[in-house]
Amino acid sequence: MEKIISLGRSDLHVPRLGVGAMTWGQPKGLARWTPAQLAYGPADGAEEEQSALEISLATGVILVDTAEMYSNGASERRVGELARGKDVLIATKFPPSPFSNPADFPKALEDSLRRLQRRTIDLYQIHYRSRRLPIPELMHCLADAVEAGIVQAVGVSNYSAAEMRLAHAELAKRGLPLASNQVQYSLLHRAPEVDGVLDACRELGVTLIAYSPLAMGALTGKYSSTARPGGLRKYIAPYFQTKGINAVQPVVNLLKEIGTRYDKTPSQVALRWLVENELVLPIPGAKNGRQAAENAGALSFSLSSEEIEALSQATLAWRV
Ligand SMILES: NC(=O)c1ccc[n+]([C@@H]2O[C@H](COP(=O)([O-])OP(=O)(O)OC[C@H]3O[C@@H](n4cnc5c(N)ncnc54)[C@H](OP(=O)(O)O)[C@@H]3O)[C@@H](O)[C@H]2O)c1
Repeated sequence: MEKIISLGRSDLHVPRLGVGAMTWGQPKGLARWTPAQLAYGPADGAEEEQSALEISLATGVILVDTAEMYSNGASERRVGELARGKDVLIATKFPPSPFSNPADFPKALEDSLRRLQRRTIDLYQIHYRSRRLPIPELMHCLADAVEAGIVQAVGVSNYSAAEMRLAHAELAKRGLPLASNQVQYSLLHRAPEVDGVLDACRELGVTLIAYSPLAMGALTGKYSSTARPGGLRKYIAPYFQTKGINAVQPVVNLLKEIGTRYDKTPSQVALRWLVENELVLPIPGAKNGRQAAENAGALSFSLSSEEIEALSQATLAWRV
C-alpha cells in the first residue's frame, strides 16, 4: 500500500486514496431533497454501505470523506455508525447550512462529533467560500479547535489559490499548516492545473484532495448517450449532455486500452492518473462494496510516463 507521509505538512498520515461517503445514510423528510441526494440518488442500501467501508479498510483506504451538509447530517451519522471502534480517518466539513457564520462553528463541531460518535475529527474542512464565512475568522476557529485537541488537521474546500494563501497565512500566525484543499479534479475537469490551485498546493505544501475524480461516473465507462445516470447530475454535468457524453467516449476508449495492459478498468486508470501526481489524493464516491473494491484497485499498479502523457493530451479540452 502506497502512503504519503502526511496530509500536506500536517501530522495526519493518510493513504493515497480515500472514499467519499456523500451518498451514504438514510435521510428523512426534507433531507431527501438535499443536493447530494438529488444529484446522485442514495447508495445501494445499508449493507452495501457497510461493505464499501469494510472493503475500503481492508485495502488500506482508511480515509472517509463526509460533510455536515450531506443529507443534513445523515451521511456523518452513517459514517459514525459504521466506523465505530474501527481504525478510520474521518474528514468532515463545516458549515451546516448556507446561512451559517463563524459564530455557528463551536456548535456545528459539537454536532458533527456527536453524529460521528468521536471525540476528535481527523480533518476538519471549510466546505466552500462565502461572504458569510470570512477566512481569517474561520481559520482562528479552526486553530482553537486544534489547540483544544478536537481537530487534528485543518483543510479547506473549493478555495481559489488566493483564498488558500490567505488561509495558509492566517493559520501560520497560530503555528499551524493548511493540510489540504478539496476541489473538483479529474481527467474531465482539469481546472486546478490552470487556475493556480495546483501551483499553490505545490508552493505551500498543501495536498489537493480531488473530489468527483471519476467525473461523477462519466469516466467509469458505463454511461453513454443511450445510458445516462440517475439523478440531477445528468443535467448539471456537461459530460452527461449529448455533446459532452459523445466527446468523452474517446477518453473512455483510451482508458480501456491502457487498462487492458494491466488488467485494470477505466475507473482504476482514471484514478491512477490522479494518484501519479504526489500532490493529489482522490476520494471517489462508492455506493457499494464492488465500487469501493474497484476504486481501491487504483493503488496496486502504476502508469508509465507515456501513458500519463497520452491521457493528459487526450483530455486537453477539459484543461480550462
Ligand atoms: N467538497 C465538495 O464541494 C464536494 C463536492 C462533491 C463531492 N465531494 C466529495 O467527493 C466524493 C466523490 O465525488 P462524487 O461522488 O461527486 O464523484 P465521483 O467520485 O467522481 O463519482 C461517484 C459516483 O460514480 C459511481 N461510481 C463510483 N465508483 C464506481 C465504479 N468503480 N464503477 C462504476 N461506477 C462507480 C457512483 O454512482 P453511480 O453508480 O450512480 O453512477 C458514485 O456515486 C463525494 O463522496 C464527497 O465526499 C465533495
